[in-house]
Order: sequence, then C-alpha cells, then structure tokens
Amino acid sequence: MNERDSFGSKFGILVALAGSAVGLGNLWRFPYLVGNNGGAVFIILYLLFLTIICLPLMITEFVVGRRSQSNVFGAFKVLSQGKSGKAWGKIGFISVISALVILSFYSVVGGWTVDYITQAVCFNFKEGLDYEQTFRYSSENAFRPLIFTLIFLLFTAVVVIMGVNKGIEKYTKVMMPLLFVMVIMLAIRSLTLKGAGEGVKFLFRPDWSKFTIDTVLSALGQSFFSLSIGCGTIITYASYVKRNENIVRLSTETALMDTLFALLAGTAIMPAVFAFGLTPAEGPGLVFVIIPQIFSQLPMGGIFAILFFVVLFFAALSSSISLLEVMVAYLIEEIHWSRKAAVAISSLSVTVLAVLCSLSLGMLKHVTLLGNNIFDFMDKLSANILLPVGGLLFVLFAGWKMTDKEYFDEITNEGSLHFSPVFLKILRFIVRFVAPLVIVLIMLVSFLK
Ligand code: TRP
Repeated sequence: MNERDSFGSKFGILVALAGSAVGLGNLWRFPYLVGNNGGAVFIILYLLFLTIICLPLMITEFVVGRRSQSNVFGAFKVLSQGKSGKAWGKIGFISVISALVILSFYSVVGGWTVDYITQAVCFNFKEGLDYEQTFRYSSENAFRPLIFTLIFLLFTAVVVIMGVNKGIEKYTKVMMPLLFVMVIMLAIRSLTLKGAGEGVKFLFRPDWSKFTIDTVLSALGQSFFSLSIGCGTIITYASYVKRNENIVRLSTETALMDTLFALLAGTAIMPAVFAFGLTPAEGPGLVFVIIPQIFSQLPMGGIFAILFFVVLFFAALSSSISLLEVMVAYLIEEIHWSRKAAVAISSLSVTVLAVLCSLSLGMLKHVTLLGNNIFDFMDKLSANILLPVGGLLFVLFAGWKMTDKEYFDEITNEGSLHFSPVFLKILRFIVRFVAPLVIVLIMLVSFLK
C-alpha cells in the first residue's frame, strides 16, 4: 500500500515537473536555435551545459525549495536567517521579471499553436501549400495573431485562477505520452524522407567553424530555458515534494525526459528541412513551416496534424501556467493581493508586452532593440541574460550562504540516502565554483566581444 502511494505521488511530481520543463522550449525553440546556430556544435554545447551546470542547478533549486518549504521569495528569507535574507529575497524579483519577459513571447507562440489547431481542423495543410506563406500570414498579420495570443493567455489565466494542479495534472498525464508518440512518429517520417541524410549530418556532425561565442551563450540560455531553471519554478514545485523523495533522481529523470523531447524534436525537424529543400536558419517560424508539411506526407496526416497541435498547445499551456504562477505568487505573497487580482494584473501586463512582440514580426518590424526586433529581443533577454543571472545568484546563495551540512542533509534526506562521497564532492564543487565561473565567463566574453 505504502509502495503504491509513494509511487503514485512520485509520478504526480514527475508529471508536474515534466509539464513545466517540456514545452515550446523543446519543440519550437530548440529546433530553431539548432538551425540558426549551425547544428551539431550547438547540440554538443547544449548537452554539455545541461550536464555540468543545469542539472546540478536543478538539484540545488530542489534543495532550496524543499528545505525552506517555501516559494521563491520566502525561500531565501527562511534559509538565511538574519538581515541578508531580504537582500537575497531580491532574487525572487528577478524571477518575476524573467517570467514576465518569457511569457511575453511564449504566449505569442502559444497563440500560433491555437491558430494552427484551427487550420488543421479545416484540413488546410495539404501537399503543395506554400507553408512559409501560411506562417507569415499567421504571424505577421496585424490582428489574427493578437486574437490567438489572447486566447492562449486566457486559457493560462483561467487555469492559474482555478488553482494550478488538479486539472492540468490530469491532462498532462495523458498529453505527455501522447506528445511523445507523435514526436517519434514525426521523427520516423522525417528520417525516411528522400534527402533526409543531409539533415542527419547537420544534427550529428559538428562543423567547428560554426563555433562562436554567440553559439555558446545561446546554448547556455537554452539549457536554462528548457529545464525551467533560473526562475524559481522548481523551488515552488520542490516545496511540495515529500521529505523521503530522492531529489537527485527526480531531477535527473526530469532532465533526461526534457533532453529526449528536445533531441527527438530536432530529429523530426532537421532531416525534413533538408528534404524539403529549405534552409535550417528559418528562425522562429521553423517548426510551424516544417511540421504541417511532414504531416502532409503521412497517411491520415490531416487527423494527426490536429492531434499534434492540440497536444503541443497543452504542452505549451502546462509550461505557461508555471510561468504565470511565478508572477502571481509574488503578488499574492509579497504585495498581499487576492489571487484573482494578481492573475488579472499579471496577465494584463503580459498582454501588453505580448502585443508588442507579436506586432514586431509584422507592423513593427522596423523597431529594433540592440539590433533585434522586439520578439527576438525578449527571447534573448530572458534566456541568455535573465535566467543565467538568476541562476548565478541562486547558485551563489546555495554554495556560499548555505553550509555544506545543510546542503548535503537535504540531498541525502538527513542521511537516509547514500550517494558516493565523490559524487557529493563534485556536485558541491560545481555549485560553489564551476557553475558561477562558467556563467560569469560566458556572459563577460559575449558582452565584451
Ligand atoms: N521550460 C519550458 C519550455 O521548455 C518553459 C518554461 C516554463 C520556463 N517555466 C519556466 C523557462 C521557467 C524558464 C523558467 O517550454
């Protein structure tokens, strides 16, 4: 009985974590960055950062969350008794800004998934359709994307008002496996298209001449973004995790699952890009141009396309709610607003920025910030700067403010789990030295270049 109970709850946690981690970051952002950054080199760097920085960081967010039994704002106050708690608590504020900035473009892409559901339902995706033109129509038009973005945000807000877990967890349990099956199906079809070989090479054979500091920074940012770290999401989830759960294993399983989805998405997209004679550096529209086209080459593709975009919508939704919740929790717990007011105000601020992001692909194309349109600027600002900075401050806190004993007690569940001492030493060394140094170094070099 006990065994079953704990398995049940563990599965629930995994689903919630996977729901937050697996989303547009894997299926939309990863493939388009791989395309923009020269393929295999980007993937290698991404996997490297994931292993040496982001997985340890995820474990550490778990440690802080479960130890403090608190959200991102309270966590630092609880764990650093005394005055400095307030100062450390400011990390929570960076999280709120990150969540706001991420949601501003995330909800636009979420809107595209809603748009593509409606198009799939009308069986628009047929062989011979100009898919680039279709995507331009869906993203550059002045009104159409705004309406779909609003619909996506409305869904997000409603779920967050009704309380996060119950409903969405139930859906996620079904959607995740379904998404998995669909992506595998796409990958197989893509790999068997004529001319797919070039895409496989692009994915797995590194061309080191493509190695630039921008590639390094993008890979670092993407590994943060995809695992949902650097923004306090994991801290909040961790506070619901039971004291007898193995947080190293939970984090590793989440990271593996997330990586698997990203790599499968890459394998589904890139071979098809080459087979269809397109260029990989298509930008944010990549997935929306390629996926419907692969479906048009499958028997019953029309039906599968509907299913795919519905599932993608849910994957996006289960991530966007975890982002909105970061903002809402702040307003409720620090400013003492009601949940409804907090959701209303935060979604309203997201809406304003989201409208700007969406328009920046069409009407406001000419408005640039540091050489990027508003959409790309928000995307880069959050993933490449805000998340790593949040992660850096956070790792400094856990590495230098928390004692070794506190840290290890939490990982080993007060000594009841056994890890090899070498593993624990390496983990602590990464948290104290490697992660902060690597993050600072990469950011410095990319700003000074
Ligand atoms: N990881 C999600 C994705 O891949 C996006 C996301 C959800 C996120 N919550 C986050 C990113 C917190 C950074 C921080 O789609």
